[in-house]
Amino acid sequence: MIRARITGVGSYVPPRVVTNDDLAALMDTSDEWIVQRTGIRERHWVEPDVTTSDLALAASQEALAAAGVTAGDIDMVILATVSPDHEFPGTACFLQAKLGVAGPPALDVRQQCTGFVYAVSIADQFLRTGFARRILVVGAEVHSKGLDLSTAGRDVTVLFGDGAGAVVLEASEASPGSPGILSTHLHADGTGAAELWLPAPGMAYDRFMSPDLLERGLHFPQMNGRAVYVNAVKRMAEAVVEAVGANGARLEDVDLFLFHQANLRINEAVTERLGLPADRVFNTIDRFANTTAATIPLGLHEALKAGLLQEGMLVCGAAFGSGFTWGSMLLRW
Ligand code: ACO
Repeated sequence: MIRARITGVGSYVPPRVVTNDDLAALMDTSDEWIVQRTGIRERHWVEPDVTTSDLALAASQEALAAAGVTAGDIDMVILATVSPDHEFPGTACFLQAKLGVAGPPALDVRQQCTGFVYAVSIADQFLRTGFARRILVVGAEVHSKGLDLSTAGRDVTVLFGDGAGAVVLEASEASPGSPGILSTHLHADGTGAAELWLPAPGMAYDRFMSPDLLERGLHFPQMNGRAVYVNAVKRMAEAVVEAVGANGARLEDVDLFLFHQANLRINEAVTERLGLPADRVFNTIDRFANTTAATIPLGLHEALKAGLLQEGMLVCGAAFGSGFTWGSMLLRW
């Protein structure tokens, strides 16, 4: 049986650190409010000339080097992002060009904060069927350029940061206990689509973009924070139970939980609801805030660098995001 195995991990955050106090200089907010409600202390923001595909490139180069391969060895690129360089073509195409290769397929995945879990699941299917032998899977976001930096946008703006994470997934022959993706689980409920979204620009209007849409501020993300909170806790907990149960494992068998980083309070509530030991839940939100599709690969790389991943460990990733979308994966390291 073929199993998709992670052979390289990389990540990148731009050097500029933006603290909560820096935000308080732009809008009516405070370090105390942000830390208490979200657990976020700082985030990284790009310089004006840096794009999502630039962050993706840096993370990808690190993942490729860690896997001991070059971009030319990759059969397919899958990139998850909600902050594409351009409306079309997909950012995976721009990344592929920056990687200096042409020919293999390049696929964009949206699916917001669940984007990386969807991307891994897609890669897993392609590897299991033999369509590809080695796939680069990336989550990358530049949020800072699209946020409302005035007080009107403070409920959303304080939550997000820029960054990227990447993994190289390779098809390998599976035997009991061998490393790789054991299962992935994907869900969506479009009735929640307008609870967290970027309404404009879009083809839903008489013109894709217009002064009216700008005046109404519809080009800034809009969020019903309470609805997101309640659904995130419920759905991420369900997704964890689903992934563990599908593999005949118990929650206590999992060595490390890598949850999407939306809000520390959401992850604490999931931890409490499932009765997980807090030291097995790895959070990075205090340093990077919410980097949407990048949070899980970024967290995986941070956990690896911190020496938290040992061969044979069971790792459970779970995410919830706009859409609503949610999902999980269980892998053996
Ligand atoms: N700084 C200071 N005050 C603020 C800020 C801010 N950044 N944002 C909102 N406030 C104010 C509000 O205006 C409100 O003031 P009012 O009482 O005078 O009207 C007050 O703080 C309380 O606002 P609430 O929205 O009730 O605050 P709440 O305690 O619900 O926390 C939060 C808001 C943190 C967004 C919460 O709803 C939440 O955690 N939601 C989950 C959403 C989330 O984490 N999204 C991340 C992206 S989505 C994803 O990745 C899945």
